[in-house]
Amino acid sequence: MQNKINVLVAETIEKINSAQTQKEITDIKVEVMGKNGALTSFMRNMKDLPNDQKPLVGKFVNEARVKIESVLDAKFKEISEKELKAKLDAEKIDITIDKHDRKMGGIHPINIVRRKVVDFFTSMGFIVADSPEVETDYYNFEALNIPKDHPAREMQDTFYVVPEKIVLRTQTSAGQIRTMEVNKPPIKMINVGRVYRSDDIDATHSPVFHQIEGLVVDEKITMCDLKGILEKFAKAFFGNETNIRFRPSYFPFTEPSVEVDASCPHCKGKGCRVCKGTGWIEILGAGMVNRNVLKVCDIDPDKYTGFAFGVGLDRITSIIYGINDLRLEFENDIRFLKQFN
Ligand code: DAH
Repeated sequence: MQNKINVLVAETIEKINSAQTQKEITDIKVEVMGKNGALTSFMRNMKDLPNDQKPLVGKFVNEARVKIESVLDAKFKEISEKELKAKLDAEKIDITIDKHDRKMGGIHPINIVRRKVVDFFTSMGFIVADSPEVETDYYNFEALNIPKDHPAREMQDTFYVVPEKIVLRTQTSAGQIRTMEVNKPPIKMINVGRVYRSDDIDATHSPVFHQIEGLVVDEKITMCDLKGILEKFAKAFFGNETNIRFRPSYFPFTEPSVEVDASCPHCKGKGCRVCKGTGWIEILGAGMVNRNVLKVCDIDPDKYTGFAFGVGLDRITSIIYGINDLRLEFENDIRFLKQFN
């Protein structure tokens, strides 16, 4: 009997040692120690043994059970750990992995150009002033020599936050007054920002757009200074071979006033679709600061003169990149924006 039990123990341990899965272990357990298991049958058959042998056989069977159970438990633990480790390895997320489809943000083309414009003028000693987008009628119109009934207001209708008093600014020129009120000559400043007009949206108009205002006031400032700076500006942004020309124009806050054209950077002045065959593209308005404007700001117009200019930032961006529809610059279509970074 003892031999049979020993053989069973040895065979069982061998089976356990070669098991690979938790299920195999459970099957062995049932096979040996289950209700109809091999070891259980020794116990069951004990009732047929002579009484004096019962305790001894009982002892053997118990020892065998303890032995098999301890080997089973150890093996079960070993397999569980192995299976858990394999599972964790398979599910591990490598957070350092280089994902090829990661998406980076970029700079909007208007901002790319704005930063370059600011760099250009600050490198020439201009300061960057800021002024409010919600502006008083006084700064936006009145002080700029555009009184209440002036026809120039018609082209610059806007949203009145408070009727007749507070407006969404129509031009960054309002910043000229604010600057000259607190700073006295010499003044060299630019003012960049959003402006608003009551316009319907189409390929060349938007109710919100951006301007860059420039102002220089000092003794003996002439139109030559204006032309020199604007020529440098045009060359820096449209290419070194660019020429500019002045056409007479009218703005209430400058006298004389000019409209400034640059030779078309796309056809080098030969005439193309971009410049509508003329070889020239209008880029900004400018002029010598009107005496009335200097006076309003307590600057002596007999001692000081100045020039001012106003550039459409969106328009410059369109020209540089050959964008033929202004709406693209405001719609934030990712397919459009992706092309600039
Ligand atoms: N503020 C003008 C506009 O929005 C542009 C402009 C013209 C600005 C001449 C100036 C200037 O400073 O001198 O149409």
